[in-house]
Amino acid sequence: MHIPNAKVGILISGRGSNMKALIEASEHGVLNAEIVTVIADNTDAKGVEIAAQHGIPIHVLIPKEFSSKKDYEDYVVTLLKAHGAQWVALAGYMRLVGPPILEAFPNQIVNIHPSLLPKYKGLHAQKQALEAGESVIGCTVHFVNAQMDAGEIIMQTQIPVLPGESVEEVSARLLIEENRLYPRALQKVLEASCAH
Ligand code: GRF
Repeated sequence: MHIPNAKVGILISGRGSNMKALIEASEHGVLNAEIVTVIADNTDAKGVEIAAQHGIPIHVLIPKEFSSKKDYEDYVVTLLKAHGAQWVALAGYMRLVGPPILEAFPNQIVNIHPSLLPKYKGLHAQKQALEAGESVIGCTVHFVNAQMDAGEIIMQTQIPVLPGESVEEVSARLLIEENRLYPRALQKVLEASCAH
């Protein structure tokens, strides 16, 4: 379905492979989105270089330099709005999103998490799944609400855990699926929003 490009801001904390997948999908026209800005919450985030290579406007913030989480998030909202963002995609953003961002983008924030939610919320989800003896693991794109990894599920992909596979090995295979799933799931959300 061809829909007008939605303006999307991406928040990252690290490597940025899911961010890259969203940027490339938008460049290739398979995601009807314009990535208007990338905001990183630390100076070591590798994804910043990737965003720069794609010519995306970048902001690197240091949350502890703000007087409170609210001040930090108010500034994130100011930046997102200044770039015209209508949607926010969290891509390896390692912070719980609070009221300033949630209220500025109601039902317009999405996240990707490396588990078959509602199972294994929080950190090290792949390790949690393996330690629980799961033979299948997966990833989930979901809407973001005030609880961690708890908003409405948009799409999931699952893969089998291979015999003897380490957490690192299965996580690497899962990341490939994450990078495929995120653009498709965001496109689904954007199409649904246009249908209303
Ligand atoms: C991914 O596993 C994602 O599901 C989780 O954090 C990781 C981020 O990886 N939320 P990347 O920075 O997108 O490469």
